[in-house]
Amino acid sequence: MTPAVPVAIHGAAGRMGQSILRLLGERDDMSVVAAMVRAGSVLDGIAVPAGHPGLLHASSLHDDRHPQVLIDFSNAAAFDAALELAVRRRIAFVSGTTGIDARQRAALDRAAATIPVLWSANFSLGIALLSRLVAQAAKALPDWDCEIAEAHHSAKEDAPSGTALVLGREVAAARGEDFDVVAHLSRAGSDTARAPSEIGFAVTRAGDIVGEHTVVFATQGERIELVHRATDRDIFARSALAAARWMAGRSAGRYTLSDVVGIDPAGASA
Ligand SMILES: NC(=O)c1ccc[n+]([C@@H]2O[C@H](COP(=O)([O-])OP(=O)(O)OC[C@H]3O[C@@H](n4cnc5c(N)ncnc54)[C@H](OP(=O)(O)O)[C@@H]3O)[C@@H](O)[C@H]2O)c1
Repeated sequence: MTPAVPVAIHGAAGRMGQSILRLLGERDDMSVVAAMVRAGSVLDGIAVPAGHPGLLHASSLHDDRHPQVLIDFSNAAAFDAALELAVRRRIAFVSGTTGIDARQRAALDRAAATIPVLWSANFSLGIALLSRLVAQAAKALPDWDCEIAEAHHSAKEDAPSGTALVLGREVAAARGEDFDVVAHLSRAGSDTARAPSEIGFAVTRAGDIVGEHTVVFATQGERIELVHRATDRDIFARSALAAARWMAGRSAGRYTLSDVVGIDPAGASA
């Protein structure tokens, strides 16, 4: 039997980290050698439950741990340290952390010179297809207004969501526009009418919503809405694990979800 791929989870205390740990407990092709939490976390030094006997949550990666893949679902503030750790220890890096900025996206490219790197704002296959459909619609309907609405649980830290921004970049790219020029991230306090090429964003934060994205294309007298609703965060966790398994042993470089699953997500990478 092929030996299990050793992996480390960064952000192990979070919603995604906990989903990933639970799902990993059900697999025998990967084993968790580190469950990393924030320094000062109440879980630091506490046993990881279910399926990981003897493993304790820890705030650093001990020298005697040798993961082949570091799976990061933390936050934008913690992201730099996770990526730096992966580069320093030569570990493949799989991340779904959102809210990262242009500097951090450039750091992913630099890291890919020495380690395999896969970052995706959304690991759902449905979003990968939605992204492609959005690009087609934006190209076919260049003069229609485009607006993007997203909804997530009340504890989400970044807004608009990384996925909404990726979808917006798809629209702008399909129309030959500069996203940073046409994106209108918030209308609060806006005193001007909608510009024709604008891509507007609307954000809902409420309850336990896992993730919803609606891309609207509208003109006089008609409207198209492309909607994706995630109801279970295990879809992201399963797909991230498939990506982690696939990344083990790859050569250095930048990879996308499409490399793993064979769908062209057209923009799922940073
Ligand atoms: N790409 C996708 O498909 C996808 C899907 C879902 C979510 N996400 C993104 O993934 C990220 C995590 O989501 P979530 O819902 O799991 O959020 P969450 O529940 O807030 O979890 C984030 C975790 O990161 C931990 N953390 C903060 N600093 C850390 C550090 N220095 N070292 C280790 N852990 C640290 C936090 O610890 P404390 O609890 O101690 O503060 C928290 O437990 C977010 O950016 C979210 O937008 C992406």
